[in-house]
Order: sequence, then C-alpha cells, then structure tokens
Amino acid sequence: MASIPFSFSLLLVSCSMVTASTNQNSSSFIRTSCSLTLYPDLCYSSLSPYKSQVGNNPVMLARFAMNVTIGSLKPLSMYIDSVLQRTAADPSSGALKDCKELIGDAIDLVRKSEKEITGLEVMVGSQVNWRIGNAQTWLSAAMTNEGTCVNGFEEVGSGGSGEDVEMEVRQKITRAKQHTSNALAIVNSLRNSY
Ligand SMILES: *[C@@H]1O[C@H](CO)[C@@H](O)[C@H](O)[C@H]1NC(C)=O
Ligand SMILES: *[C@@H]1O[C@H](CO)[C@@H](O)[C@H](O)[C@H]1NC(C)=O
Repeated sequence: MASIPFSFSLLLVSCSMVTASTNQNSSSFIRTSCSLTLYPDLCYSSLSPYKSQVGNNPVMLARFAMNVTIGSLKPLSMYIDSVLQRTAADPSSGALKDCKELIGDAIDLVRKSEKEITGLEVMVGSQVNWRIGNAQTWLSAAMTNEGTCVNGFEEVGSGGSGEDVEMEVRQKITRAKQHTSNALAIVNSLRNSY
C-alpha cells in the first residue's frame, strides 16, 4: 500500500528533474546561440526568460528574439507619440515625426519576419532559404530605419530642452537596434540549422 505514494513521489521527482535538465540545456543552448551575436549579454538576459518555451529550437529562439525586439520598439513609438503631443513647435519635432514613421515601419518589418519563419522547422528545400532570406532582408531594413532615425537627430542639434528628449530617444533606439541586430544574427545562424 505504502508503495503507491512512494513511487508516485519518485515519479514527481524524476519529472521535475527532467524539467530542470531541459531548462539547463536550454540555458546553454541560448548562451551558445547568443555568443554569435554582437550583444551577447543583452541577448541572453532578454531571451533566457523564455527558455522553457525555446528549449533547443533555433526557430523558436529567433521568433522570441524578434518579439523581444518588437517589445523594445513599441514603447519607443509610444514615447515618441507622447513627446510629439507635448512639443509640437520644438525644432526637433520634424526629426521626431520622421522617427515615428520609421519606427512604425520597423515594427511591421520585424513582425512580418517573425511570421515568415514561423513553422520553418517542418519546411523543406527552397522554401527554407526563401523564408530565411526574406526575414534577413526585412530585419536589415528595420535596422536601417532605426539608424536613419538616430541620424535625423544628429542633423537637428536642437539644443535647450529638446536635448533631454533627444538623448532619451537616442538611448531607447540604440537599445532597440541592438535587439534587432541580435535577432538578425540569430536568423543568420538558422542557415546552419536547416
Ligand atoms: C540538449 O541539447 C542538445 C543540443 O543542443 C540535444 O542534442 C540534446 O538532446 C538535449 N538534451 C536534453 C536532455 O534535452
Ligand atoms: C510573437 O508575437 C506574436 C504577436 O503577438 C505572436 O502571435 C507570436 O506567437 C509570438 N511568438 C512567440 C514565439 O511567442
């Protein structure tokens, strides 16, 4: 009689051990994949929270990397909106308006890329290369948009109170660009997996 709860608890222990080793394995998988990016620490810290969903799946890792990127672009877009509402007459608002569009387009491009590689695990042949190629093109375009936004501020050089806003936008966009760069590097490495 006593053996039933005993073996049951053994089963529980072994189940949680499997989970622990999968997470362990996934952590090292994420760390290794992130070591191929330009910002490995940012890559690891932003993606390790998803390790149980990522497992050892490179496509899932790439998809989460893109969603993390979107997660950094969206608040930036909202921040720009709020600044534009406050400072319609500010000399830098022309650059900000441009940024708003550029960032909006970047969000669409990253979102499209995430969809493009969804299900890549079960695709074969030219379909795989085609989809990876599209995601690479779109992520590169998103990075170009981000760079253009930052450069727009350098040309303005507004001075005064605009400078805080500029600095804030520049910091947020630099971070978003690092996430995009990491996502692109992870997508590049999909070529070796499929
Ligand atoms: C750990 O990951 C490797 C590849 O990264 C895989 O081959 C192996 O099956 C994984 N082991 C477990 C227990 O998930
Ligand atoms: C990324 O976000 C999109 C939109 O919210 C969602 O449909 C998709 O499942 C997410 N991808 C992952 C890997 O969670």
